[in-house]
Amino acid sequence: MSRRRQRWVRWPESLTTESARGPLGFGADYNPDQWEREVWDEDVRLMRQAGVNVVSLGIFSWARLQPTADTWDFAWLDEVMDLLHAHGIAVDLATATASPPPWLSAAHPEVLPVTRTGETMWPGARQHWRPTSPVFRQHALAVVEMMASRYAHHPALAAWHVSNELGCHNLYDYSDDAAVAFRAWLSQRYGDLDGLNHAWGTAFWSQRYSDWSQILPPRLTPTIPNPTHQLDFKRFSSDALKDHLRAEREILDRLTPDVPVTTNFMVMSHFNGIDYADWAAEVDFVSNDHYVLVDDRARDELSFSANLTGGIAGGEPWFLMEHSTSAVNWRAINPPKAEGALVRDSLTHVAHGADAVCFFQWRQSLAGAEKYHSAMVPHAGEDSDVYRTVVRLGGHLEQLAPVVGSRRRQARAAILFDIESSWTLDLDANPSSSVSHRAEALDWYAAFLGLGVRADVIPAGAPLDGYDVVVAPVLHVMPSATADRLREFVDRGGHLITTYFSGVVDENNHVLPGGHPGALRDLLGIRIEEFGPLLDGDEVVLDDGSTGTLWTDRITATAPDRQVLATYKTGLQAGRPAVTRRAVGPGSATYVSTRLGADGLEPLLGRLLQAAGVESELPEALRGRVELAIRTDGEREYWFLVNRTDDVVDLGDLGDLGEPMFSSSADGVELAGSGVAVLTRAVR
Ligand code: GAL
Repeated sequence: MSRRRQRWVRWPESLTTESARGPLGFGADYNPDQWEREVWDEDVRLMRQAGVNVVSLGIFSWARLQPTADTWDFAWLDEVMDLLHAHGIAVDLATATASPPPWLSAAHPEVLPVTRTGETMWPGARQHWRPTSPVFRQHALAVVEMMASRYAHHPALAAWHVSNELGCHNLYDYSDDAAVAFRAWLSQRYGDLDGLNHAWGTAFWSQRYSDWSQILPPRLTPTIPNPTHQLDFKRFSSDALKDHLRAEREILDRLTPDVPVTTNFMVMSHFNGIDYADWAAEVDFVSNDHYVLVDDRARDELSFSANLTGGIAGGEPWFLMEHSTSAVNWRAINPPKAEGALVRDSLTHVAHGADAVCFFQWRQSLAGAEKYHSAMVPHAGEDSDVYRTVVRLGGHLEQLAPVVGSRRRQARAAILFDIESSWTLDLDANPSSSVSHRAEALDWYAAFLGLGVRADVIPAGAPLDGYDVVVAPVLHVMPSATADRLREFVDRGGHLITTYFSGVVDENNHVLPGGHPGALRDLLGIRIEEFGPLLDGDEVVLDDGSTGTLWTDRITATAPDRQVLATYKTGLQAGRPAVTRRAVGPGSATYVSTRLGADGLEPLLGRLLQAAGVESELPEALRGRVELAIRTDGEREYWFLVNRTDDVVDLGDLGDLGEPMFSSSADGVELAGSGVAVLTRAVR
């Protein structure tokens, strides 16, 4: 998972006077091409006033830069680059390939993506291109070549921003180009058709392929399409866009070998399409976009996603490329952020390793689909609470500059996030379509937050060294290598906690026979003969007073040393074990067979952590009310305390936790609702 070059933003000299690593980045997507020339001067004045030091430029400028197939217009961009540089603002320059111009799709309709039902996605919005179209690729790479040649030596150029949110709208393309590329991908994966027929289980429903040309993307079918075919298409689609990223990157590497390359990931709960743990190795530094939910899980999901982004970045600092100052425009109803949320959201990302805090976008548009999306400078202009808060945030980030370059201090507990399990659970024809890997993982994360115990969210393939407790929530897909790693973790004295519907299938999405969960049966000391998913709204009561929803299992004990921590009192499994634990030397393996939700998990997790000797690092009065995240540069530690409530939290006497370094509240001890404080101390 380490970056190929581990390179950070190449800040201009003017921004590296205080630290060689540069400042905490602060800025936005900047779209000057939507505005008259005189607005640009006002923009740079306000940027300076707010402390903005970096912008992402040119993301949707292809049609302006290349107005026709044979003409180019860089004059305006030259001027913007110079203007920004003159004002000490660095540029994360887009390759400008995110959205093709109308002339391209008019001349080459064969670049347009096709949906599962065979409809063309027409131009008129954005990202209407097939990831596998050779024609699109050729035109996009020509733009990259022009951009890289022209700006290679521009002093404002601090990083390359490949495309934009690759796969946000065009991830799944079912076109003929996709069919050709999918076959090539499959032939690489399986070698021959026998391998593919076995992996896909094509003996079922007469699906056996006798020639590669018969294989198609999983287009609309009369009934449930082959699940492994669908899973492979998800894998392929992630790889196809990775291939595009690589193709652009190769040009950038050739023409500007000293400039770091990134692309903005979408690690957030409403995007589940790309294997970012795999993509992380393709960029010099990880960048992420995050948009908060508007439900009661929003704060926890924000922290979860920031934490997972840190995990994807291997614990190294990363770049928050986009979030919002206030409302978005793409939900049915788009409420503004509450007071305190803008700063809290930004600093939660910093707490989890962001060394740059950027927004979509700098100045709120007057026209187009995003005119009601918030920005750093809203329609109301400079005289607005949003802009004033932005200026305050700029000040906060300056104060927090000492954290730049520090990495996360590994927690003692980890939660595994597995994109393949998530994809597989999203397929049809599972025992319950309501099971979600991400939702269960978030429940566990919220339970950790409730207890005030830090947990790292890490990709399922990340090393487990140094962790005492590992939670594998609905880790459904379990290749034997994963099962071996978990077994070794427990054998080394680690405490594994897993849940319902984990370890049930292998990498081909084939059930592991002999009783579930095939991959973990022996380790857990249980055997499940039949799943008992619950209908929406149904609940079961456990003898410890907790309530389960979503799922139950018909569990039999197989190992004599297996303890029952809770038993079903109601429902089809009444009298049978609901939660089991097996001690394995100094380690243990726990199985939770129903969805307890964050509140129900908290007491259980508390007991399991106690048994593992893992304690909260927070004073008791703060546990649950304040989130703790720790960064360290090896010499100093930075303890971020984020108020999880809307009420004032009295931090009281923090004893020897650390020296106060920063507080978003005027009175450092009284932390306002959503307030953030940072303590620092020498590494002990
Ligand atoms: C992102 C995208 C931005 C903007 C933003 C609005 O998906 O990269 O260009 O559309 O969403 O929330």
